Amino acid sequence: MDQRASMWNPFANMGDLAGRALPIVRGRGATVEDAEGRPYLDAIASLWYANIGHGREEIADAAARQMRELAAFQTFEYYTNPPAEALAERVAALAPMPGAKVFFTSGGGSDAIDTAGKLARAYWAAVGRPEKRIAIARTHAYHGMNAYGTSLGGIPANVAPFEPLVSLVEHVAWDDPAALAETIDRAGAERVAAFFCEPVVGAGGVYFPPEGYLEAAQRVCRERDVLFVADEVVSGFGRLGAWFGSERLGIEPDMMTVAKGLTSGYAPLGAVIAGPRVAEPFWTPGTAHVFRHGYTYSGHPTACAVGLANLDVIEREGLVDRVRDLEPGVDRALKGLADHPLVAEVRTGVGLIAAVEVTEEARTADPGLLPRLVRAVRDRGVITRGLRGAALQFSPPFVITEDEIDRVAEAFAGGLDAVA
Ligand SMILES: Cc1ncc(COP(=O)(O)O)c(C=O)c1O
Repeated sequence: MDQRASMWNPFANMGDLAGRALPIVRGRGATVEDAEGRPYLDAIASLWYANIGHGREEIADAAARQMRELAAFQTFEYYTNPPAEALAERVAALAPMPGAKVFFTSGGGSDAIDTAGKLARAYWAAVGRPEKRIAIARTHAYHGMNAYGTSLGGIPANVAPFEPLVSLVEHVAWDDPAALAETIDRAGAERVAAFFCEPVVGAGGVYFPPEGYLEAAQRVCRERDVLFVADEVVSGFGRLGAWFGSERLGIEPDMMTVAKGLTSGYAPLGAVIAGPRVAEPFWTPGTAHVFRHGYTYSGHPTACAVGLANLDVIEREGLVDRVRDLEPGVDRALKGLADHPLVAEVRTGVGLIAAVEVTEEARTADPGLLPRLVRAVRDRGVITRGLRGAALQFSPPFVITEDEIDRVAEAFAGGLDAVA
């Protein structure tokens, strides 16, 4: 099918897409199907989000029920609705931040990041320290595509063409707490608002934090009174084998951003989960401080009803524990690829997330190698994608079976052989 007529795809070379577009028309569990009825194992849960798997009728029913009752209504100022209230309650109870408050965003993680960036500045202004405005993020970071998230991003190809966007943003090495301390000290802690950190770097290539890194980074922030924002858009709601990556990896953030797994993608929805410190100036009775921010679809009733139904499935089927149970199988299946001559490194360890990195030598010698590899894997019935032009992504739905994980590894191996 030639899709070039009108639809402009994200991150696509539209001049080159003719005859190459792949319409996906249905999905069940960890499998999706193209228009010709060809099945593919979805090794990346679409974009790290189809956690409960595709084709859940009960989620469709929950959405339809809510749409019949009240499809949508705003939540600005004093309006609220039962699914949004209930979902906020449930998410706050799950979050590893007692007394958390939940601010819903609409589109997804990018909106959540913008919201957290603005809320950090609003918080410091509210407590009488308006000069604390600098945000710090890390190399390899991906924080979405809105202006704040693009500015915080640490993948140069995504950032450079658009700069300058948000001012007062600094970057530090993703794995070095001393560099974080130095950067804060150089800027002056009295000017730094927040540090943004994915518990496990996702789109930047799947990098697990070095032993002790997150605790040290948190300590650096605490000692300097800088807010720690955990970007849990990928890691939230089970991907790391706990409800939140912060919980599994032992950090207590001041804010978390979430999206994807909040609804498993059945409806777009994100949130900032604000700890009590950040919420307090805005929630104190009689306060004059208002967070003047929000989206038309913040707290969208249908999206929130979908979120509730999604959490029901995760809880009823024990999918967070399932992720942990699958960890050894992921290790076993993918680590075998490390011996392949084209493979530099296989990164696995925590949760249902991994990357298989191709050697720099091979990529430099043949810049088209990774896209051809992704295509060769697809020809073997598995959907993956290239991360940062260097690695294959593995982040399947939580319902994937051990056999299916082995099939993914076989397709990766077959693809590597085919392009070698
Ligand atoms: C860590 C992280 N933050 C933010 C985002 C942006 O989310 P969205 O694409 O839903 O706006 C993503 C998307 O992949 C992400 O991985």
